[in-house]
Amino acid sequence: MKKPITILKQLKMGENYKAESNRYETMKYNRCGKSGLLLPAISLGLWHNFGFADNFNNSREIIRAAFDQGVTHFDLANNYGPPAGSAEEVFGSILKKDFTAYRDEMVITSKAGYDMWDGPYGEWGSRKYLIASCNQSLKRMGLDYVDIFYSHRFDPNTPLDETMMALDFIVKSGKALYAGISNYSPEQTSEAIQILNKMGTPCLIHQGRYSMIERTVENGLLDVLETNGVGFVAYSPLAQGVLTDRYLNGIPSDSRASKAHFLKPDYITPVLLAKVNKLNDMALQRGQTLAQMATAWLLRDNRVTSVIVGVSSVKQLNDNIETLENTVFSEEEEGKIKAVIDLM
Ligand SMILES: NC(=O)c1ccc[n+]([C@@H]2O[C@H](COP(=O)([O-])OP(=O)(O)OC[C@H]3O[C@@H](n4cnc5c(N)ncnc54)[C@H](OP(=O)(O)O)[C@@H]3O)[C@@H](O)[C@H]2O)c1
Repeated sequence: MKKPITILKQLKMGENYKAESNRYETMKYNRCGKSGLLLPAISLGLWHNFGFADNFNNSREIIRAAFDQGVTHFDLANNYGPPAGSAEEVFGSILKKDFTAYRDEMVITSKAGYDMWDGPYGEWGSRKYLIASCNQSLKRMGLDYVDIFYSHRFDPNTPLDETMMALDFIVKSGKALYAGISNYSPEQTSEAIQILNKMGTPCLIHQGRYSMIERTVENGLLDVLETNGVGFVAYSPLAQGVLTDRYLNGIPSDSRASKAHFLKPDYITPVLLAKVNKLNDMALQRGQTLAQMATAWLLRDNRVTSVIVGVSSVKQLNDNIETLENTVFSEEEEGKIKAVIDLM
């Protein structure tokens, strides 16, 4: 039986950070496809809550609390903020203050694909954009290399060979240790894997949106990855907060939906909320929060290497990490949950 994860000490921000000595005791690590790399079942994403617009001390507390509990995988991209690029700068500053002694215990990622700078070379999948963006990301984070560099989206107007050659170059020049792709269809993924294999830089990982609500990856992508020994990490596993207790009683003023940018309040309809409420009841019957059940639901499939959660507080982070205390579902629970999510 797993030792329960306790809420860890809150360090004062002025103090030098020393990681918890028991940080590897409770986290579960999964092999990423058929590679040599293990990733924590729960990873932390820095899309929201780590920009210049956010509270630096809160961001720093979250990174410390994550690492203290064995979360070794931190997911970034060139455009995370706001403003774009600022999450990498904030993270770089936290690394410098707290984590220089721990770099080799961390898996840090970045990506390029979405709109980042003006002109024809600031987005999509050209060699010009990917390599320039990778160099910029390294500078912002103050790193010599990232562990994984991703093509953030498929570019229909650039030959896939060119995008994959850019990833191959980035890895072979030591700017990244592994190559990954994100938001590619099963067919595009299959082709990308073959191209990378020929170049001797295997595709390590695919990062795709996956939650109880958004299940497109079940229609072929996970099979392609399993067949080719490529890992899969799920992003937005809580549907940006909808699959939590966050919106059960309206839209809190400090929530993502209240900002009405990436998660629009209109999306959270009474019909959707009725289903979320049903799931919440089932989670409570399992002795879990809905966030925990939603994460456990993805992790029960062993093709899912890791689930990348976003959090706005240490409390949410701790809640999500506690998921690992119960990731098993009975047949009856599976049936009841599927009956709800099949209609979502
Ligand atoms: N490759 C891609 O194209 C792509 C796209 C999107 C995301 N990602 C990656 O995936 C990461 C996660 O995405 P996401 O932020 O959308 O993930 P998510 O985990 O689905 O949603 C995160 C939000 O859910 C709420 N939340 C989290 N834990 C909670 C808890 N225990 N109880 C109550 N509410 C909770 C918080 O909302 P509040 O902020 O309202 O508190 C939090 O900001 C990103 O940071 C990024 O690294 C990648």
